[in-house]
Amino acid sequence: DISTNINGIKISSCIMNASGILCCTEKELYNLMMSSSGAVVTKSCTIKPRKGNLKPRYFEWKGGSINSMGLPNLGIDFYLNFLEKKNSKKPFLLSISGLSIEENYLILRKANISSNMNAIELNLSCPNLLEKDKILGYDFSKISDFLENLFQFYKKPLGVKLPPYFEDFHFRKMAFILNKYPIYFVTCINSLPNGICIDINKESVVIHPKKGFGGIGGLSIKPFALANVRKFYTYLRKDIPIIGCGGICTGKDVFEYILCGASAVQIGTQFLKEGIPVFDRLIKELITILKNKNYSSLNSFKGKLNVF
Ligand code: DHB
Repeated sequence: DISTNINGIKISSCIMNASGILCCTEKELYNLMMSSSGAVVTKSCTIKPRKGNLKPRYFEWKGGSINSMGLPNLGIDFYLNFLEKKNSKKPFLLSISGLSIEENYLILRKANISSNMNAIELNLSCPNLLEKDKILGYDFSKISDFLENLFQFYKKPLGVKLPPYFEDFHFRKMAFILNKYPIYFVTCINSLPNGICIDINKESVVIHPKKGFGGIGGLSIKPFALANVRKFYTYLRKDIPIIGCGGICTGKDVFEYILCGASAVQIGTQFLKEGIPVFDRLIKELITILKNKNYSSLNSFKGKLNVF
């Protein structure tokens, strides 16, 4: 049994897509809805549709991926409309990422009157906007004011997607802020911001936007992502579930995330590489590990990482 529960949202498999990956268009969302992904997370949206940054804007190598997509999306109305008319019991998480705090309020007000998503995943960590080169998740006082204001009017389930942190003090500070609010879940991590990859033949960067700098995902970031899950598992209120994301390629990786304290996981780079079959493969690999260890559910080992 690899089912899980995110604050009352029942999810039949703990493995779902990461926001941004094959979850932008009607067709992609439909394919995810029909797949064995435990839930569907939508592409982070803005008020208006966006084309995103100039291509090439995504590149992968054996160790991971770099992207600077620039938030291409079909706009909040498209996603709300998709959720209205969808015909499926599968949980949906609506990811939103306004270009400003004001835009986030506008999107949240729209979402507040719609009822067909199970929760919002508020993205506090998009690293790729040409318009503004600031990651909200790194500005602790702004985040604090923002959450204070939004929970005045937004009363529905809302989780947050965080950027990676690296310092114990930052984990404690962010957890202290989040612990004050009825946060529904925390997803960590988004891509590692401002990496660079190089093509030595062309002696050039590999993606066009932002002089080649972009968010790093995939295998290379897994140790950082696991550490973020572990730190937040330690510092967040015990009733705030954690969704882990970063570099999951195998069932063993999923097991490691749960052991660190994640209640569910999201697949980004590997989902883009492998497509919809990734979900069946990971489920099978995870179930094999649980069988070998004689665990009947995720709760048998969730968070129970041994330390010396
Ligand atoms: C984009 C990238 C992100 O990592 C994110 O959280 C949101 C949007 C993008 O470039 O489209």
